[in-house]
Amino acid sequence: MDVVTPSRPSQKEDEEDLAAFELPFLQRLVVQLWALVLGLVTRLTDGVLLLWRPGLVRPYLGIWLAERLRSPYRARRSFEVVRALRATGQRMRELIYGETPLLSALWVFRRAGVGPGSRVVDLGAGRGRVLLAARWLGAEARGVELLAEHVKSVAHGLASAGITLVEGDAAQADLTDATHVFTNWLALTPETKARLVARFRTCAPGTRLLTVMHPIEADGFVRLSGHRVLFTWGVERVWIHEYRPASPTAD
Ligand SMILES: C[S@@+](CC[C@H](N)C(=O)[O-])C[C@H]1O[C@@H](n2cnc3c(N)ncnc32)[C@H](O)[C@@H]1O
Repeated sequence: MDVVTPSRPSQKEDEEDLAAFELPFLQRLVVQLWALVLGLVTRLTDGVLLLWRPGLVRPYLGIWLAERLRSPYRARRSFEVVRALRATGQRMRELIYGETPLLSALWVFRRAGVGPGSRVVDLGAGRGRVLLAARWLGAEARGVELLAEHVKSVAHGLASAGITLVEGDAAQADLTDATHVFTNWLALTPETKARLVARFRTCAPGTRLLTVMHPIEADGFVRLSGHRVLFTWGVERVWIHEYRPASPTAD
């Protein structure tokens, strides 16, 4: 198994990374209008879905409020954020934020066989919107998120719906009892992805792994299907894999 040693990102590298996301005024306007339309559509569909699960309305509103009070898109380079990044060797651009609407998460979870009795883990859970979809389907739901500010703003409300959201490095998460692992890893560097893939290997055989945009390119992960669904920034493919490690050959 490859072990990737975290290296320290410099402030200059981080600033260069983030500068790449700066857009000219007109382009920024178009992107903001597009985000507004997507926001309206996804809030509407989320709202309709929540009519069937009134117990999830309060935590959902808590997540929404946290988004309104703080920019959802980009983390600030605070002392706490730099400390978290140093611990994992990641870069600021890996913290670019976006969420999975309920309808999209429900769609792919249903395709992956999530239901009562499933245990779903979201790695890089943000404020836990995906975990609400897991609970909607009657599954156990827990998430691991690197940034304390995301966790602090919503963990209490999520707990009222039976959802656990903890602060930590996804590459250290306990996946031994998970039936389904979701990761929205499109902003992660190849190094961070490699650390996650190493962690996926601690799953039980048969565990289903769902990744956004990039499939898992490693031995033992069989790609079952891909589904194009809506996210808060646009349409992406979600890949469903099953962990089937090679069985040791008998001599
Ligand atoms: C694109 S957001 C996805 C949020 C949520 N899973 C969803 O789809 O709605 C990715 C999240 O991963 C978090 N993250 C990045 N690196 C991480 C790590 N090593 N451990 C835990 N979380 C991490 C980021 O802070 C961010 O909140």
